Amino acid sequence: MTTRGPSKLVVLISGSGSNLQALLDACADPAYGAQVVAVGADRDRIAGLDRATAAGVPVFVHKVADYPDRVAWDLALTQSVREYEPDLVISAGFLKLVGKAFLAEYGGRYINTHNALLPSFPGIHGPRDALAYGVKISGATLFVVDDGVDTGQIIAQVAVPVLDDDTEETLTERIKEAERAQLVEYVGRMARNGWTISGRKVTVG
Ligand code: GRF
Repeated sequence: MTTRGPSKLVVLISGSGSNLQALLDACADPAYGAQVVAVGADRDRIAGLDRATAAGVPVFVHKVADYPDRVAWDLALTQSVREYEPDLVISAGFLKLVGKAFLAEYGGRYINTHNALLPSFPGIHGPRDALAYGVKISGATLFVVDDGVDTGQIIAQVAVPVLDDDTEETLTERIKEAERAQLVEYVGRMARNGWTISGRKVTVG
């Protein structure tokens, strides 16, 4: 019998960290099969970093403005993540595109959750753009990050209705609830059972 420890997760954030919190809560159960070993951010003074610290998880911050260029920032981010030897790196509301160095090291195991049903409404205003377009169903997409903007292979999607009286805020919140559940479910399955990527197709477990 092989005795393998829990899969190591590094989570990257830029904001409130509610997705991070859902992962931290899930990881408290040893049966979940994963552990958040570090949290990284591109800015300080965000609630997500406080959540990590409260859970006893080490944090690191790399601000783009502190580096001469994006390549140097990307190298610093890659180096910090490398120190924790993660099996999976999760962008949970991380508002930066990583660069070549990061993808060379973590391609295929760097995943992101987006608050729209890709390939519709990529970018940072998913719920706003979905509302403006008038769609009746939106949702969240978990995907493998590639060098495009929200273009990588899709791991999972969950649909959420758009209601007649929705505002950007109410739709965003409804999507986030479904998004958190999806993230926790799929990260756990990936951690416990692994995954394969073949062309555009991802198979978990
Ligand atoms: C998520 O809805 C994600 O899709 C979007 O930003 C949100 C992050 O929220 N890009 P939180 O920081 O996890 O609360």
